[in-house]
Amino acid sequence: MSDEPALVYLDHAATTPMRAEAVQAMLAFLDRDFANPSSSYRFAHRARRAVDDARDAVAAVLGAAPGEVVFTGGGTEADGTAVLGVVRHHGGVAVCPEAEHHAVLHPVEHVGGRVVGVDPTGAVDLSALSDALDERVRVVSVMTVNNEVGTVSPLPDVAALVRERAPGALVHTDAVQAASWLDLREVWRHVDLLSLSAHKFGGPKGVGVLVVRDGVALEPLLLGGGQERGRRSGTLNVGGIVAMAVALQAADAERDSQGARLTALRDRLVDALQGELDGVVETVPRAAKVAGSAHVCIEGIESEELLFLLDEAGVCASAGSACAAGATDPSHVLAAMGVPSHLTRGALRLSLGRTTTATDVDRAVTAIVGAVHRLRAAR
Ligand SMILES: Cc1ncc(COP(=O)(O)O)c(C=O)c1O
Repeated sequence: MSDEPALVYLDHAATTPMRAEAVQAMLAFLDRDFANPSSSYRFAHRARRAVDDARDAVAAVLGAAPGEVVFTGGGTEADGTAVLGVVRHHGGVAVCPEAEHHAVLHPVEHVGGRVVGVDPTGAVDLSALSDALDERVRVVSVMTVNNEVGTVSPLPDVAALVRERAPGALVHTDAVQAASWLDLREVWRHVDLLSLSAHKFGGPKGVGVLVVRDGVALEPLLLGGGQERGRRSGTLNVGGIVAMAVALQAADAERDSQGARLTALRDRLVDALQGELDGVVETVPRAAKVAGSAHVCIEGIESEELLFLLDEAGVCASAGSACAAGATDPSHVLAAMGVPSHLTRGALRLSLGRTTTATDVDRAVTAIVGAVHRLRAAR
């Protein structure tokens, strides 16, 4: 028997464990029903029908039409298609806030777009956004939930501002971190384009969705066989798509119960850290963010040293976004929010999800408190 302690996984913003029903659903399409869904013989019908059913299911969770659902190879591809696809098709300018995920920020910068400031919670600064909007703007991309600090964006206000100040522009939202926490129907009704990524809600990695409102034209990133009505060429990832739909339906069904349970656990976690340690600053007020997010800055320690000790104790957490392997750059999100550098040095992102238990939280608290005492004593 291994003497390693059971893992405490508190990095659900980086990725989530797959749901058993999603794993089960995809197996048949890796094995018995392996056909290419675009093939014409009867053997391919089951694969094709499974993709059609998955498209209907994803659309239903969003309140979208099935024809508006474009399957992609993940959230990064969906974001890039939205920003680059609109600008390449329509010309004009792209706009996004500074605290976006790099999957949006880099495409906006790549096409010479405008990057606007955020407030101290990481939400877009609406007056800065207003100043950046004019008749040249063709796409405005504002994330639904921030992946580092969990802040929920004021999307209805963003959409209203764009309709007023740049009526020719489309509104895109990166909702990759939202599916477990917010009703996507309430998000989709405000925007023209919306990105999802299956691995953030219990589905597999490498599959996602760009929802494209009926009538919105964009240039595809990938050219080839013309799948997805020409909006995304490439043989469909049947198993991944089927599993994603199962996971999204499950996340939608349990959102309220998990939200309430995880709010209580998140509060217990942060309250315990603040009760047992001095100098633990909650980066964003709880009311401004989703239930699973517990981002704190701990004074007098370095994140990397803390994460090393936590890893030794079997606790998986991160300092910020997990997207560039081994990245140790200071967080562009915290910098945009104006968090002072003596705090950003001790940033700790703990993100909870549907498999998180009270025991996980208590073990994490013990490990973090012990590690912080050790690190402070060594200074
Ligand atoms: C907000 C946000 N957008 C986009 C992505 C990228 O999604 P994917 O990993 O599916 O490419 C992530 C993943 O970390 C994310 O958190």
